[in-house]
Amino acid sequence: MASSTLSDTRVVVVGGSSGIGRAVARQAAEAGARVVVGSRSEEKLADTAKEIAGITTGVVDVTDEESVRAFFADLDTIDHLVICPGDMAPGSVYEVPLEAVRRSLETKIIGQLLCVRHAGRKLAPTGSIVLLAGSGGFKPYADLSATAAANTGIGGLGRSLAVELAPVRVNVVVAGLIDTPLWDFVPAEAKAGLFAQTAANTPLGRIGTPDDVAQSVLQLLENTFTTGALSFVDGGSSL
Ligand SMILES: NC(=O)c1ccc[n+]([C@@H]2O[C@H](COP(=O)([O-])OP(=O)(O)OC[C@H]3O[C@@H](n4cnc5c(N)ncnc54)[C@H](OP(=O)(O)O)[C@@H]3O)[C@@H](O)[C@H]2O)c1
Repeated sequence: MASSTLSDTRVVVVGGSSGIGRAVARQAAEAGARVVVGSRSEEKLADTAKEIAGITTGVVDVTDEESVRAFFADLDTIDHLVICPGDMAPGSVYEVPLEAVRRSLETKIIGQLLCVRHAGRKLAPTGSIVLLAGSGGFKPYADLSATAAANTGIGGLGRSLAVELAPVRVNVVVAGLIDTPLWDFVPAEAKAGLFAQTAANTPLGRIGTPDDVAQSVLQLLENTFTTGALSFVDGGSSL
């Protein structure tokens, strides 16, 4: 194992049982961190623990403050916190169900805020937080207004927290389209079309992998002079 400043640190990954969060958990564990993964589904957590040796897991629903409080109450100090629970509310402003919009904002904005509220004071002064946002919104797209509101809101949340929580560092990773189970709600043929079209419109000519994003997350956890950054990992698609 290459030497890493994450070695023997405690890294908590909320939303770490799938996709980007799972890749972060795996890369952090490979760097020697003591990794704790949280999400709602016991089944996904068990599957993650089977894949990544040595991690611990806990059930948490970031839309439920009591659940978030209980999850972090079980942890004493934390070096790094990565928050990436995902939800989307795509659709025209005239048609997108308000319930989906509320659930998305509740998961992505309020959920990230609640995690920081209940974990923040446990973070080591040398520690850091990474929030996950998407590039939709930083580059506007039709039929993605609710998702855009969540993504740009996370940018503002992260940059404000970087001022409020210093010397704890707070950064935001802004991901482009990444092939994860988040997209499983789209029928296979439509999904293949969306991925191909996005790759064709992306300067680097492909969509991203969870490991592309995790690599950037780990760099931000380790870089002790970076805070309040929006780190775009999108192959240039938002340019
Ligand atoms: N994939 C993309 O194209 C893309 C692009 C830009 C930004 N992002 C952002 O990146 C982050 C990770 O997305 P992903 O693609 O890795 O999604 P994913 O594969 O669907 O993983 C989402 C993770 O969040 C957990 N989760 C969902 N709701 C939760 C809740 N209420 N409380 C606690 N955990 C919850 C899920 O586990 P449980 O179901 O067990 O709770 C899972 O571990 C999200 O914030 C997403 O918006 C993704």
